[in-house]
Amino acid sequence: MSISVVELFRGAGGLTYGFEQAGLLVKAGYDIDPECRFPYEHNTGARFFLRDVQELEGADIAEHFFGSAITVLAGCAPCQPFSTYSRRYDDRQSKWLLMQEFARLVEESNPDIAFLENVLPLKFHPVFKKFTAHLARLNYFVKHYRVNCPDYGVPQSRKRLVLFASKFGEIGLFGPTHTP
Ligand SMILES: C[S@@+](CC[C@H](N)C(=O)[O-])C[C@H]1O[C@@H](n2cnc3c(N)ncnc32)[C@H](O)[C@@H]1O
Repeated sequence: MSISVVELFRGAGGLTYGFEQAGLLVKAGYDIDPECRFPYEHNTGARFFLRDVQELEGADIAEHFFGSAITVLAGCAPCQPFSTYSRRYDDRQSKWLLMQEFARLVEESNPDIAFLENVLPLKFHPVFKKFTAHLARLNYFVKHYRVNCPDYGVPQSRKRLVLFASKFGEIGLFGPTHTP
């Protein structure tokens, strides 16, 4: 069964690499930073599109989903507005509006599953509540988890927030695969 992914805010391709390792087909992804093209295309088999997510429409994404059994829209919107480090140094960030753009594109492209990864403090920001409420209104089952990265073999002491929104029912997180 083919599971196709489109990724927003794709950066250097860490998330795409993980999806490919898990056997998913990443069809396309979008980022505004041209420096991301080389590492992205070098390390993954997916296509890089230099586009601002705010200018995308659902139809741009839906065309990559054509013929796929299961579709996934994934994105790690920039985390600077929510991280404790950048809040100390830059209070003027307004990039959290990109979370609303992500929700808009879920609504317009109607994937079976939406996936988000970000820093833990996002969970306590009103924009996260708005994001999950928006997806729930679209009839997604929304679940989020706190992930301790070393528990899954990542050689970093990071903790992350991951969110799954699915039309099929709640998506659970399997337990730790590694002992830190
Ligand atoms: C947290 S990084 C993504 C990391 C990526 N998921 C990975 O695994 O490597 C956020 C990315 O969002 C991109 N970005 C910021 N604003 C954007 C916008 N308006 N449209 C598209 N991409 C944007 C940045 O250039 C950056 O590469």
